[in-house]
Amino acid sequence: MCGIVGFIGDEPAAPVVLKALIKLEYRGYDSAGMVSICDGKIHFRKDAGKITDVQRKHRLDRLPGKIAVGHVRWATHGRADRINAHPHFDCKKQIAVVHNGIIENYQELRAALVGKHRFASEVDTEVICHLIEDYMEAGASLEKALLKAVGELRGSYALVVVSSREPEKIVATSKDSPLIVGLDDGKYFVASDALSFLDRTNEVVFLEEGELVSLTRDGAFFLNREGEEIRKKSQRVDWQWEEASKKGYDFFMLKEILEQPEAMRRALIQDRKLIMEFAKEIWEARRVVITACGTSRHVALLASYLFSRLAGKLCDVVTASEFQYFCDSIAEDTLVIAISQSGETADVIEGVKRAKAKGARVFSIINVVGSLLTRISDRAIYLNCGPEIGVAATKSFLCQLVIFYMLAFALMGKLEEGIEKLEQVARQIGDNLNDEKLKKLARRMKNKNNFYYMARGLNLAIAAEGALKLKEISYIHAECMPAGELKHGTLALIEEGTPVVAICPKDDTFYETLNNVMEIKARGGFVIGVSDENNEVYDHWIKIPKMEEIFYPLVAIMPLQLLAYHLAAARGKDPDRPRHLAKSVTVK
Ligand code: M6R
Repeated sequence: MCGIVGFIGDEPAAPVVLKALIKLEYRGYDSAGMVSICDGKIHFRKDAGKITDVQRKHRLDRLPGKIAVGHVRWATHGRADRINAHPHFDCKKQIAVVHNGIIENYQELRAALVGKHRFASEVDTEVICHLIEDYMEAGASLEKALLKAVGELRGSYALVVVSSREPEKIVATSKDSPLIVGLDDGKYFVASDALSFLDRTNEVVFLEEGELVSLTRDGAFFLNREGEEIRKKSQRVDWQWEEASKKGYDFFMLKEILEQPEAMRRALIQDRKLIMEFAKEIWEARRVVITACGTSRHVALLASYLFSRLAGKLCDVVTASEFQYFCDSIAEDTLVIAISQSGETADVIEGVKRAKAKGARVFSIINVVGSLLTRISDRAIYLNCGPEIGVAATKSFLCQLVIFYMLAFALMGKLEEGIEKLEQVARQIGDNLNDEKLKKLARRMKNKNNFYYMARGLNLAIAAEGALKLKEISYIHAECMPAGELKHGTLALIEEGTPVVAICPKDDTFYETLNNVMEIKARGGFVIGVSDENNEVYDHWIKIPKMEEIFYPLVAIMPLQLLAYHLAAARGKDPDRPRHLAKSVTVK
């Protein structure tokens, strides 16, 4: 979380940084700020609120100079107010720092610095300003001072620093938080996500852990953690910024939901050889552990059912934030599959590092090209579904599922047949979708405070994902459970009119799930049935197309995403910027 953009060039920097920063708003919208250097002096503006509001109030784009650095914040340490907004400064306001990440030992560092330095905020970042200050006072250059300062830090960071003491440069370094350098013919960017500057340049350099970049008008200079100059190769990123625009939709989320048929077709375009090799290793591994967070974890859940059902391969699913507690049983014969849209989720990265330290092989399924996770995995498959900007994951979920369906078919030795079938599903996922009916249902249900979602088997992950979508964007409490688990507690919560969404297609789960639906109905629940067939027990029927039964999950998710979207809209919530959340969770 938190988004950073730095720019140095031969044109006013603030408007460039502002434009890029707006594209990173998905990373945090608690506060925003910018610092520039002009005539050897530091200028800055910052405040609480979304970047567009802070711009309206303070005109960040009017900061003078051809060097600027901006920040959008997702608060970790300290309230989301102006004081805690980035940039932060040393005592003399000669050094400005923006930071993405968490400094775990900041309390100790602060206690050691507080006698000598004046702290202005509550944030962990500020200790870094004062550490750099001390090293510069002792004679170090900005680059060396930053390297020495990070040597004292524990935690994760992407740091971008400017100083009026060395006013012709931007210096940046990172550990466990992404920083990407953009090269544009005498102009240079450094940012948390290349997407922010892709309208200017596609030529990028990924900063690896511990490396530092110094951007001047003469070039981008890279140093290793010892301060020695190193050469790094640039690469091209194929994504286009236009792919990440709203294209006339009110919200990114709606656009991303509706573009799923096309996204699914793109996800199916994969290197067959890579899929086969991936599948072979899955087959041969003694243990397979799939790890992920949030929506991606629901994919892991479905994948485990799919592998078991189609290929007789049992896998464990471990929530990435809990991975460390299972590490004792990870060994060289374990294959870890990490799933992450962003490829930078801190818990996933941490789990993967631990797995690698135990000698396990790591395969990843990722959307963001070149992300940290790609670089630390033995193999990676990309979703190819284009940038996903809405904080609520939608098309990435479907495309991650598609990859696992391909792997499952490959495990059965039927990859080609599987791809053909999945192409057919891609043509059908929007079939029978009645958006008006969903909108009406949302208006009717908008004052409900609790929703329950239930399903069995392969559909369970879809119910879990439907519930997650609802709570994260509409702030309605939503809980999912295996339909058979209802009677073990949750049934006590069902009252007259309690909405219960049952994923109940005509597959092997149908009759048993329907029995559980009856139990809900008998207690007065309002049943929303998601099925290819209507049933008198449903108070509301969400119709999905008839399918070969293993494919029902792929067609059941879109109406649930839309239902959550319409409920958020009906309650006047912004689905693209749900409170307290951010798209990339780069803190543990
Ligand atoms: O980028 P990742 O797939 O690793 O992100 C994992 C979760 O943070 C993410 O899926 C989150 O749960 C979504 N906002 C849910 O819509």
